[in-house]
Amino acid sequence: MVAVKLKNIVKAFEEVVAVNDFSEEIHDGEFVTLLGPSGCGKTTILRMVAGFEKPTSGEIYFDDQLISGGKTFLPPEKRGISMVFQNYAVWPHMTVFDNVAYPLTIHRIPKDELKTKAEHALKLMHLENYADRLPGQMSGGQQQRVALAGALVAEPKLLLLDEPLSNLDAKLRESMRFEIKRLQKELGITVIYVTHDQTEAMAMSDRIFVMNRGILQQAGTPAEIYNSPVNPFVADFLGKVDFFKGEAENGRIVLPEMGSQTLAYTGDKTGHVYVAIRPENIKLAEDGILSGTLEQQYYLGDVDDCRIRIGDALVRVITDGYAWHTLQEGQSVRLNVREFIVFEDDGSLEEMLRIKT
Ligand SMILES: Nc1ncnc2c1ncn2[C@@H]1O[C@H](COP(=O)(O)OP(=O)(O)OP(=O)(O)O)[C@@H](O)[C@H]1O
Ligand SMILES: [Mg+2]
Repeated sequence: MVAVKLKNIVKAFEEVVAVNDFSEEIHDGEFVTLLGPSGCGKTTILRMVAGFEKPTSGEIYFDDQLISGGKTFLPPEKRGISMVFQNYAVWPHMTVFDNVAYPLTIHRIPKDELKTKAEHALKLMHLENYADRLPGQMSGGQQQRVALAGALVAEPKLLLLDEPLSNLDAKLRESMRFEIKRLQKELGITVIYVTHDQTEAMAMSDRIFVMNRGILQQAGTPAEIYNSPVNPFVADFLGKVDFFKGEAENGRIVLPEMGSQTLAYTGDKTGHVYVAIRPENIKLAEDGILSGTLEQQYYLGDVDDCRIRIGDALVRVITDGYAWHTLQEGQSVRLNVREFIVFEDDGSLEEMLRIKT
């Protein structure tokens, strides 16, 4: 219901630059996730959009209206947003129902409509049996859902969610993801969501903004980010990946760590490169181009997680159990790589992959 534009946003806390020259637009009705390791600036961005924090420099617009920048600063209560904080806040003296209904009472909504809406939100969050409890009588995950229900019930034009599912177990988290996403679509709310859980980001987002150390690394759809990461950090942060040194030349890449075995390559990079291979993109094949030895295999039920020794390199392969569980450790295997990503080797790999918090 509103588009958000951030223009050259910088936020410094004394010498710490929490957000460094961040420019992006979140479209009307879009679900965007800020994804990145601890300390990369996610919460700081949300708090600036909400108005709890003032940017050091840069501008924020809601549609074409400047809300923050220069002498303009619209206070949080005038921004028409709901936010669920990372350390979610609920009123301890109010029942669950009153907590959820509270944003509506501010808007002076008729009593029966208020009741219907609050009950609907409670049901979505699987809290319908807890309406009369006080938050102190509930678990952390249940309180988190109370905060979420309260944020949703107000039907804001912009919803800011900072790790709203962090206290829930895996099953509940999956069902909540689905409910939030469904409601967001139904109401057409613009959502900025924060998580460091990549699966959650992939499952829920129209687009993901990957951050590292206050700097936006890449903005794109989940498929773009996963399949075409712009740098090794992004490749490494989303999904599993191994990096190998290579020499790109004449339609192939030679892999010195793999006893100079080669991969066919049609891209345009030459010279020193890094080859990024995701474990699900390596397949066992009798006519495989790489040969190695099965060093370890872990049975995980739905898949096998294997390590193959190829020269000096240890290659991780995740594959469906059928193909593998007949193999013995120490056995020779041949492999095909169906997809890989090539990055120029500018000597920054180690530094880039080191996550500073
Ligand atoms: N009020 C503050 N005063 C000083 N430094 C701050 C303040 N708030 C945040 N920072 C610093 O800014 C950086 C970004 O913090 P932020 O809370 O935005 O990270 P985050 O990405 O949300 O991390 P997490 O995933 O751990 O919640 C960190 O280095 C943090 O220590
Ligand atoms: Mg945070």
